Amino acid sequence: MIVLGIETSCDETSVALVEDGRDVLANIVASQAELHRRYGGVFPEVASRQHVLSVVPVAREAMQQAQVGWEAVDAVAATRGPGLVGSLVVGLNFAKALAIARALPFIGVNHLEGHIYSAWLRLSADEPPVEPRFPALVLIVSGGHTELVLMHGHGQYTLLGHTLDDAAGEAFDKVARMLGLPYPGGPHIQRMAAQGNPDVFRFPRAWLPDTYHFSFSGLKTAVWREVKKYTGAEASSRPHAPPTNTEDLPVHDLAAGFQQAVVDVLVAKTVRAARAFNVQEVVLAGGVAANRPLREQLAGALHTLDIPLRPAPPTLCTDNAAMIAAAAYWRLRQGERSSLDVDAEPNLPLAAPVG
Ligand code: KG4
Ligand code: ZN
Repeated sequence: MIVLGIETSCDETSVALVEDGRDVLANIVASQAELHRRYGGVFPEVASRQHVLSVVPVAREAMQQAQVGWEAVDAVAATRGPGLVGSLVVGLNFAKALAIARALPFIGVNHLEGHIYSAWLRLSADEPPVEPRFPALVLIVSGGHTELVLMHGHGQYTLLGHTLDDAAGEAFDKVARMLGLPYPGGPHIQRMAAQGNPDVFRFPRAWLPDTYHFSFSGLKTAVWREVKKYTGAEASSRPHAPPTNTEDLPVHDLAAGFQQAVVDVLVAKTVRAARAFNVQEVVLAGGVAANRPLREQLAGALHTLDIPLRPAPPTLCTDNAAMIAAAAYWRLRQGERSSLDVDAEPNLPLAAPVG
């Protein structure tokens, strides 16, 4: 079964074709990062307008790259939420129009479920196929979410924990801004941290004992306090406003200290949950899953427990439509279809919290 997936929940316009929920035939991603850089984050109106401009050419390019005709496409899927409502409606309505025009089944997909399914995708038939092993523990770490989810089977989730304030990716982006690094900040922090010493600044870790919840806003404030010491920024100036005077800022050590604080908490909580729920594998997905120290340290910690780590392929960690098509495939296989009345849901949850 070939599913055409569409993703427009934030600032990437993406269209993909995926066969049997596993093989990526095409995955075109038009990033708007350049457009939003001057705002230091995503500007919602700019994003939705750009999706309108990009979605048709991106879809054409995906069809070309996959080298399949319309007659080969079995279903159309699009992200329904969570995300920016003005961005979601562009992809969702484009998908519905395609489904009507081609008389194809349509399905709306949860963006977080998409991130999870990115872990079992392969980009080339030369790679060995991977089958999900349940129960799986999923750590979703993106710009908007940080969630620990127990996955019992396809489409069956229990939310174990979530962030109480900032998402991990949001913290990376805000700290990058404090250090004068461009948006999106994650890859820049990783690069700077590689040349820094994580022990120069011992930033606080919010352990929130006996829960699987996370908190990153205290860490962000602690970094800002250090930044102010070097840049002389006004005590009252807003955290995460870029400092003007960054010459004396020990960017490498600050980045390394911050990154290690985030990784320590993510690894410790994930390992604790993996043991407690006796899972068959751990899935790591979402934009922050591209972070090399996180991948390595989590793999190392799980190795000692003999639990395999299934990280999403690095190029499929950040938002893409292949993951949406993959998640859609499993739902379609179970006979699910969405009505064409389905609306964008900016706060669509993946699962109810436990307890
Ligand atoms: O999943 P994603 O593309 O969008 C959301 O659904 O939010 O995640 C984007 C986030 C951004 O915050 C970005 O800074 C972060 O992922 N990110 C990284 C890395 N690459 C992207 N964070 C840390 N290290 C990276 N290498
Ligand atoms: Zn995402």
